[in-house]
Amino acid sequence: MVDNMPSEQLPNLSRILHEQENKSLLRFLTCGSVDDGKSTLIGRLLYDTKLIFDDHLAALRRDSARHGTTSSDDIDFALLLDGLEAEREQGITIDVAYRFFATERRKFIVADTPGHEEYTRNMATGASTADLAVMLVDIRKGILPQTRRHSCIASLLRVPHIVLAVNKIDLVSFDQEKFEDIVAEYRRFASDLGFTSICPIPVSARFGDNVIEKSTNTPWYEGPTLLQHLETVPATSVDASKPFRFPIQLVSRPNSDFRGFSGQVAAGRIGVGDPVVVAKSGRMSKVMKISTYDGFLPQAVEGQAITLLLEDELDLSRGDMLVAPKGRPHVSDQFQANIIWFDKEPMFPGRSYILKTETDSVDATITSLRYQIDVADLGHVASKTLRMNEIGTCNVATQAPIVFDSYGDNRLVGNFILIDRLTNRTVGAGMINFPLRRADNLHWQTLEVTAQARANLLRQRPAIVWFTGFSGSGKSTIANNLEKLLHAKGRHTCLLDGDNVRHGLCRDLGFTDEDRVENIRRVAEVAKLMADAGLIVLVAFISPFRSERQMARDLMGSHDFIEVFIDTPIEECARRDPKGLYAKARAGMLLNFTGIDSSYEAPEKPDMHLQTVGSSPQELAIAIEEFLERQGRDLDET
Ligand code: ADX
Repeated sequence: MVDNMPSEQLPNLSRILHEQENKSLLRFLTCGSVDDGKSTLIGRLLYDTKLIFDDHLAALRRDSARHGTTSSDDIDFALLLDGLEAEREQGITIDVAYRFFATERRKFIVADTPGHEEYTRNMATGASTADLAVMLVDIRKGILPQTRRHSCIASLLRVPHIVLAVNKIDLVSFDQEKFEDIVAEYRRFASDLGFTSICPIPVSARFGDNVIEKSTNTPWYEGPTLLQHLETVPATSVDASKPFRFPIQLVSRPNSDFRGFSGQVAAGRIGVGDPVVVAKSGRMSKVMKISTYDGFLPQAVEGQAITLLLEDELDLSRGDMLVAPKGRPHVSDQFQANIIWFDKEPMFPGRSYILKTETDSVDATITSLRYQIDVADLGHVASKTLRMNEIGTCNVATQAPIVFDSYGDNRLVGNFILIDRLTNRTVGAGMINFPLRRADNLHWQTLEVTAQARANLLRQRPAIVWFTGFSGSGKSTIANNLEKLLHAKGRHTCLLDGDNVRHGLCRDLGFTDEDRVENIRRVAEVAKLMADAGLIVLVAFISPFRSERQMARDLMGSHDFIEVFIDTPIEECARRDPKGLYAKARAGMLLNFTGIDSSYEAPEKPDMHLQTVGSSPQELAIAIEEFLERQGRDLDET
């Protein structure tokens, strides 16, 4: 309708809007060190082409007021980026500024990723939806390790197109040879990175050469200017042949006979009458209607926000995914993924994190770090942990199955973020490679003699008493005394002691942070088995990290878990020094010693907080025993 009207007759604004709607959108990001001229280049692009539209401004203002973290008058540009829905609703701020601009030919979103130190965080959040990365290189410095790292990350994140912007060409008198050398070196290096295109451009961000206008200073350069290239490079187009993916964001029920599932089509297309299946449950239905703000549609494709009405009453909620029956995603609780680590605190295999995808939010652990990826050349390096800005290929296990595609097939449905359970910080991002089939062949065996039945036979309520504190704080001595008291009362017990368990089950582990995480994971699992066998389990380990103590508590399910903080100041432990270890550690002959050069995170809310200075181990053991008895240990009594 609008198409047939002569454009002069349309009111100006709606004509502009109409043009905008039909323009393609290119998402890109810029990489490079700060002094390579990144901000100058972006500034120039924005300054020379800037056009922000009233409708977008209005929509953003509305959205910012609803979700944004900025004050209501400011606009939160991060809201422009799709795919950050989850973060947006949680109010997690990600340190990337998204700038929106447009030219007559195209709309652009550029992720301006500042920050030197946290570059992987910025890149991962900016690049997972980007069509193109502008790699800035200072022509005087050439290809730096940073250029290689950023290119490798862009490759892992499957950014298809690269612009190699060789900057500051004015400072080398527009020297063609220097430019060609850098281009040749980059092409050699990037030949294995799988980019669809690499477009080298000699630029001067400062003076504008080849940014918007072709420069007369580089007559030897025949390629496009940066803007020309950005305007014409193919943006990731909607591929309607991909299998349909529809993560449900909202169930709307305006009246009793209308139940709609709202969200954005994440991939493929859907039409009225098409069959759909619920990814996890496998329940089928057909699309009855596709509703949008502007009325009903016969079909919809990737990127469109729609509400689906189905022929059958399916009990679905936010987090379910409707998919094409002929191209279903993976549903699994084990998979392999590349993980980019952001956080200052390293990633430890065995530690429990919250894993969030577009649809799921579950507890997850990295069961093994297969290798670290050297971001200088994508080589494989053996490693036990990932530190900030490192990337690794890992096996991941989730507590419950999640729905996903391989990241290579679908960037949106194949990525996840990891959140620290205690600090709530986003600590990493992942791209899923493939499910691990092993999971499908393991089944939970139902046991007929239950934990409860075993406890009944022993006539006691099991419990886990978890002692934590420095080496030499008195954990083992108090635990020993407690076990004697309980034993004398006819209780069935078992004591797991750090030093002893490290002679057997944990013989292969040392005292690095990652080994301690694994040590506690194993001990918690054993303690759980013992509590399931009906015992009162005493666990005496330094267990220095809050995260693992919390994990142990969560693992025990309905069993009583009593965290006992044996609080002895480190000076007192060093003075007692029962094993002579403090003396060694202080002399530098024993590394990673807790309290000296390895950290101890004291419990914030232990169930019992015992100070050993001024009390005897016997008195403290009695106090714990009384605490336990107050909970009622006799099954006959309860
Ligand atoms: S934990 O940190 O992983 O929980 P765990 O309780 O198993 O430690 O083992 C601690 C015991 O190992 C200490 O009581 C001490 O006897 C011995 N030990 C040897 N080296 C160290 C070390 N570097 N740090 C702490 N304890 C050590």
